[in-house]
Amino acid sequence: MKGIEKSLTEEYLYLDFSHQTEGCIFPLHTSVTVFLLLYCDCKIFKVCLVLTRESTEISLIRNVLPQDVETQMISREELPPIVQNCCLPAVVERPGNFCRAGLAVVLRYIIQKSYEADPSKKEMLELLGFKKTCLKACAEVSQWTRLCELTIPLAIENFLRESSEQPSAIPVEILQLEKKLSEPVRVHNDDKLRRQKLKQQKAAGVGLSLGKDEAKSKVCNQETSEELDSPSKSLELEVAFSKLTAQEEPVTANRESHIRKAKASDLPPSGARVAEGFTHVADIVLCPVFIIFALVIICKRHSEKLVEFPLLASWYHRIQEVPKVKTTASKCGIQFLELPELLTTSNEQHPSEVLGAEEQNDPSFIGGPRPTMTKLMKKGIEVMFSPHPCPTWTLDWNNLPAAVSPKEGKMSSDRALRKQQQLNNLVYMVKNQARPGDRIVDFCSGGGHVGIVLAHMLPSCQVTLIENKELSLVRAKKRSDELGLSNIWFIQANMEYFTGMFNIGVALHACGVATDMVIEHCIKMRASFVTCPCCYGFIQNTSKFNFPKSEQFKEALSYKEHMILCRFADQTAAQLPPQRRLIGKQCMCLVDLDRARAAEERGYSVQVMSMEPESCSPKNNMIVGVPI
Ligand SMILES: *[C@@H]1O[C@H](CO)[C@@H](O)[C@H](O)[C@H]1NC(C)=O
Repeated sequence: MKGIEKSLTEEYLYLDFSHQTEGCIFPLHTSVTVFLLLYCDCKIFKVCLVLTRESTEISLIRNVLPQDVETQMISREELPPIVQNCCLPAVVERPGNFCRAGLAVVLRYIIQKSYEADPSKKEMLELLGFKKTCLKACAEVSQWTRLCELTIPLAIENFLRESSEQPSAIPVEILQLEKKLSEPVRVHNDDKLRRQKLKQQKAAGVGLSLGKDEAKSKVCNQETSEELDSPSKSLELEVAFSKLTAQEEPVTANRESHIRKAKASDLPPSGARVAEGFTHVADIVLCPVFIIFALVIICKRHSEKLVEFPLLASWYHRIQEVPKVKTTASKCGIQFLELPELLTTSNEQHPSEVLGAEEQNDPSFIGGPRPTMTKLMKKGIEVMFSPHPCPTWTLDWNNLPAAVSPKEGKMSSDRALRKQQQLNNLVYMVKNQARPGDRIVDFCSGGGHVGIVLAHMLPSCQVTLIENKELSLVRAKKRSDELGLSNIWFIQANMEYFTGMFNIGVALHACGVATDMVIEHCIKMRASFVTCPCCYGFIQNTSKFNFPKSEQFKEALSYKEHMILCRFADQTAAQLPPQRRLIGKQCMCLVDLDRARAAEERGYSVQVMSMEPESCSPKNNMIVGVPI
């Protein structure tokens, strides 16, 4: 039975191919994916190499991949439409409308499928790390994912490109990584700071403000908040780093004890043993990359430079001892080099000294948001909502198919009602904008409440759901299949890896800076946006955004003052005293006005308004933008 079912759908893995040098395939994402395929002995996918424009000499690329991997070459134009809208690597079921894209998501999927195909290979699953969360958080919020997926591959690619002419400098990213490896305790401190922040917020009533459906909506956006609110993520990182350290003691012992103190229940089953092994997919991801890198430095007679990277060099030694790594590498045409045993001069500064450096409480939240609001007012910035164009409009919920309605889930009727009210608002705004043939994207779609209603209501439009969490998206697809929707796509990816054109972007309760990422993505595509933010308390500077965002707010407020607004914007829970809630709502408005102004500066007409009725959610703001 199973076999028959399987033969109905086939899974295709698409990999970019531009060229090949010194045993590795460009772009490096392809090398890394192929390495993992071989490592897992995974034969589930039909592998297609997608030729980029530069790669013309097809005759030369006959034998690019090891014989174990059967492949075919195709051009970009031959990709299924859904994949044409995504960054590679990507996996898609054919026939089907469900695509997984981006290095981290695809690597996780390969591991998962290899394990399903042969459950005796428990070690495969271990690649996903403790709690199976490795590389789960998207690159925007997880520095480890960012490192593996973006920073390091890019740096190495550039290095290889340049060094074909003359020896070039060691990429700073590598130097930074080495440095990062040498200061593991900072990670711990970050984590501690975050937990402290959370504690403060809880004490200030933020915890309360997450009403039931807020809590749920947070789940759908957890890829953005995961690292902020879950200590296990940082532990994950820490374990990963600790494995890379050259010296087991005293540093490791020291660190282990800190982990223990942190929280016993969050510990890997055997912290110490995990720390010695290489059971982390990040290692495998980094493996070929660093091998290649090391290889290149040696080839360019830079071997003396290796002393500058004692930790990475030690990792290079140790990774070879991991079962199957050496054989897999040689299948890929990569040979480990015999390096002289390095005197790993560990930096003996005691990391524990770093501890406590940032422990004082932040006094800036004591005065409340009033001084900040007064300051804004002096600059002519006041709390002001645009009027709702049609406060009473509602979908005819009783006559919609059951699977369209949020009632379908396991929601209580009260929650379902409020979810319906939220959807009324979003659907009205989108319907007003949409023209036949438009493409609409539901970002951070979660289980698909918004996207499925839109696809049903607007059959002449194409709706794409984008979500980093596999389970949510699989649930959404199931609902959509029940309805027989044919104008809908599902993409499991970091939203940045969706490269397709679209006309309208929607996001209901995209957490913290996820809302800013959505708006940014829409502006890049000159698309309209309808967003309803939440988790203002998680807003902070990221690699892409600084707050405040708009010139007008920047002139009036410092970063800290803006953060005060963000903290108090989270205090809108129904249980709070009315006066506090009012201030919360005002702060929410100001934070969103800053977002609106920033979009206006880039050629948009933007309105900040309240959803109707306001009781539909404590996070009831909408930011609606249209390109001028
Ligand atoms: C955030 O970005 C702003 C604007 O660039 C800067 O002034 C501020 O110091 C940054 N704050 C932090 C904590 O990085």
